[in-house]
Amino acid sequence: MNPSPISRPSGAEPRHHRDFLTELDFTRDEVIETLALARELKELPDRPDAVALQHQTWGMIFHKPSLRTRISFEVALNQLGGRGIYITDNEIQLGKRETIADAARVLSRYLNGIIIRTFSQTDVEELAKYADIPVINALTDLLHPCQIMSDILTIYEKLGRYENFKLVYIGDGNNITNSFLNLSTLLGIELVVATSPDTLPDMQVFERAQKAGSSRVVISHEPDEAVRGAHVIYTDVWASMGQKDQFMAKEQALRAFQVNKELVKKADKDCIVMHCLPAERGREITDEMMDGPHSVVFDQAENRLHMQKAIILKLLEG
Ligand code: CP
Ligand code: NVA
Repeated sequence: MNPSPISRPSGAEPRHHRDFLTELDFTRDEVIETLALARELKELPDRPDAVALQHQTWGMIFHKPSLRTRISFEVALNQLGGRGIYITDNEIQLGKRETIADAARVLSRYLNGIIIRTFSQTDVEELAKYADIPVINALTDLLHPCQIMSDILTIYEKLGRYENFKLVYIGDGNNITNSFLNLSTLLGIELVVATSPDTLPDMQVFERAQKAGSSRVVISHEPDEAVRGAHVIYTDVWASMGQKDQFMAKEQALRAFQVNKELVKKADKDCIVMHCLPAERGREITDEMMDGPHSVVFDQAENRLHMQKAIILKLLEG
């Protein structure tokens, strides 16, 4: 029998695909190539890649709220000629109505890729293990790799380099912190995590970053001391999504770790102030610093779009 002339995704043969679940899914060269691609996409939005995802439908599974990630990915898919289906926990109830493995197998028969924001990194890994389409981590409790990739684009635009700078992360040791720790194993930077003894980042991730030896990586409990000479000051909310019940304890532990005028004065005079957003103004960062001349927070938000496209295209290169 002649094969059907209609080509469609087949479940018979697992298709070769790549995932982006952690920064470590990219090599150092790939990080740099993806950065270059994002810059090219930003400068020339009408590239022929406008049809790269023609006829493709990607699933966007979001178990937590999102403004930037959800909208920038959906726009990115559209701009690349594809489309996204937004899926909340109400629809597929991942891991509840059926196993994650079975859901992954079924979704792979319909979709061309999955973007997922959820709680557990292990669930994302499980989904990727059984899906035979690309899976992109759009934030877990452990990591936020797409954010950190676009932040390196913003840093490059502002400092003119993606290595050899001092980044001081001030505040809760969370998914953003862990993602910077991972990135520091690929690019050579000085990374200081200024946080309280009760709000440390993931220690396994921290120790791996220290051992990797590519960057100088330290934890400090002295924010004033930590920011000396900083080229980048980065902060994030004190209580992440899914941890809002810990807010009081975190606020108490982190009160001395606010990004404000006095702190920023102690850093390099041309330092940039970054925040992945959403911000809780008046808590981890003052209005003055969010809206002041050092702030690049809205450029960061814009760059999410360019970097999402670059990440998708990089994965499709295989
Ligand atoms: N920075 C970021 O990921 O924002 P959202 O939570 O709005 O997607
Ligand atoms: N650490 C924050 C990042 C939000 C983009 C959170 O997980 O809520």
